[in-house]
Amino acid sequence: MPVVAPHDDTIAPSGKFSQMLNKISGQPESYARKSAYTFGKTLGAGSFGVVRQARNNTTKEEVAIKIMLKSTLNGNEQLVYDELSFLTQLKHPHIVGFRDWFESKSKFYVVTQLATGGELFDRIVDLGHFTERDASLVIYQVAEALEYLHGQNIVHRDVKPENILYLNHEQESPIVLADFGIAKRLRSSDDLIHTSAGSFGYAAPEVLKGLGHGKLCDVWSLGVITYTLLCGYSPFRSENIPDFLAEVKHNNAVIFHEKYWKHISEDARRFIVNLLDVEPTERPSIEQVLQDKWLTNIAAEHHDVDLLPSIRAGFNAKSKFKQAIELVMLQNRIKRLQELDDDDSDDTDFEDVGSSSSTGLSGWGALSSALKKTQSTGSSSSTSSEKKSSDAISALQQLVKTATQNKERVLNHVEE
Ligand SMILES: Nc1ncnc2c1ncn2[C@@H]1O[C@H](COP(=O)(O)OP(=O)(O)O)[C@@H](O)[C@H]1O
Ligand SMILES: [Mg+2]
Repeated sequence: MPVVAPHDDTIAPSGKFSQMLNKISGQPESYARKSAYTFGKTLGAGSFGVVRQARNNTTKEEVAIKIMLKSTLNGNEQLVYDELSFLTQLKHPHIVGFRDWFESKSKFYVVTQLATGGELFDRIVDLGHFTERDASLVIYQVAEALEYLHGQNIVHRDVKPENILYLNHEQESPIVLADFGIAKRLRSSDDLIHTSAGSFGYAAPEVLKGLGHGKLCDVWSLGVITYTLLCGYSPFRSENIPDFLAEVKHNNAVIFHEKYWKHISEDARRFIVNLLDVEPTERPSIEQVLQDKWLTNIAAEHHDVDLLPSIRAGFNAKSKFKQAIELVMLQNRIKRLQELDDDDSDDTDFEDVGSSSSTGLSGWGALSSALKKTQSTGSSSSTSSEKKSSDAISALQQLVKTATQNKERVLNHVEE
């Protein structure tokens, strides 16, 4: 059972009858709370399952529910307990709010405040206009969330665009940081974590080296996001960990190509180079980041040059690389989901209702047929019954739809 007890006021009325039914069906007691929600469309996919929109039938609040398959957690259940534990403790305008949790025999459900405005990059690509000032507003809010976390000796470890969400569709929508799936609490301010976890592309070199990392790994990720926000592509070219470590080794990897950077201030470049120092001890703390004059002053002066055309161009120029990453990631996901072993009789958790992810889909036809092929030649357990196989396919389809937008996490959970 999860180590965190839900607040009493988050428990939906379930009734003695459904509790009794749960006992008979072998479902955990908290499963009764599932009936308090009406599930809607799929919002996103991550490492262990999908996230769906839902409505609390009593309060009518729209929420997000992260559904994680226990079978794909593979002994890493502690990750879910830790995530719940963090979410229940944290309260900040730029951190996604916790609402509830429950579990079934086969899944964990984590209910949070709904962010309807979309993931950072999807939203920006959809915008009509994006300036250096807009970028600084994003970075400032994420930095404030990190300052709050670091103040409590919590390291997020997975700061990346997919975990940065706009709360609503308004122009001035606030941003929230989500996904505490691999966050860690340090024993002291300068304590180091020795287990590597993060996302390739955003994780700091010291995380990938496995020699110990602390709060400053989040500052590095913020540097990668700042660079990418301003030009539309990643500051690094490497496609694997050894190449990446070699690339950043001499602290001269960050290049500002004139074609994409000519309209961007010197201070923005200085800010990025500062955050992307290969040596964590040379990196600014999050408090120092928040006081940097690019964030506090300079960026605000750059509100007239629209960077979107060049961000789009940068984005397209590098999209081949992105597709390659997505393919590897997709194969990993398929492998994991072939272990899908569903035991909830009335299960529709992976069936979409209404429209699918806001992110849209490229190449869905090809992916879908590749998927079916893998499915039919896949593990023997998935061919045992037609019903199960079609459930698995629809679950896979849901995941793959949104998973193509995400990068694979580099996970290594050997507990200290
Ligand atoms: N509260 C939320 N509101 C809207 N969408 C969300 C919310 N939480 C997560 N999502 C979507 O689901 C995706 C996966 O959720 P996340 O918590 O990051 O899971 P994972 O740990 O598997 O990466 C996110 O990238 C985002 O697109
Ligand atoms: Mg995530």
